Amino acid sequence: PRPILLTRHGESRDNVRGRIGGDTALSDAGELYAKKLSNFVEKRLKSERAASIWTSTLQRTILTASHIGGGFPKIQWRALDEIYAGVCDGMTYEEIKKNMPEEYEARKKDKLRYRYPRGESYLDVIQRLEPVIIELERQRAPVVVISHQAVLRALYAYFADRPLKEIPHIEIPLHTIIEIQMGVTGVQEKRYKLMD
Ligand code: F6P
Repeated sequence: PRPILLTRHGESRDNVRGRIGGDTALSDAGELYAKKLSNFVEKRLKSERAASIWTSTLQRTILTASHIGGGFPKIQWRALDEIYAGVCDGMTYEEIKKNMPEEYEARKKDKLRYRYPRGESYLDVIQRLEPVIIELERQRAPVVVISHQAVLRALYAYFADRPLKEIPHIEIPLHTIIEIQMGVTGVQEKRYKLMD
């Protein structure tokens, strides 16, 4: 069995301000996580010559991968970018609730199917992840996936065999690595919380 390590990026400046989407750099806590993650990955994948590190194209994931040495190739996938909130990109949930109450309610009612105006829905994200999943399945070596909350909910649900309707509500905490092992007896999961 070979591991797939899933993690969100380190805390971003927008995470601190409660703003969704965007493309900000890491907070101090997020930067610390990036360093702890690199230690963890370098140890965990020590003799795994063919392992690779996959990020999105957004700086918070690229910065989170930046300290990882060991010569592992780093690959950027646009398909791993966070759900795009369209006209709501950069807003807080309170701002959406106040300025666009219908949108807020519609999302609350059906978070899986709700599509942000000029943006994406969870179903859109699930669809664009298909090539990533195919490639993950094909890999023989370990892969570290550094991505975002909504995207990781969908990826995790695929490997952990969770029903579609649960996807938008799965908990994927910051600063935690979810290790998935696929063996003959099924999927095993371990979580490593590197920081509070
Ligand atoms: O707040 C972080 C974040 O990754 C946002 O960029 C994104 O819009 C959101 O989480 C996705 O989570 P939810 O679907 O619960 O709003």
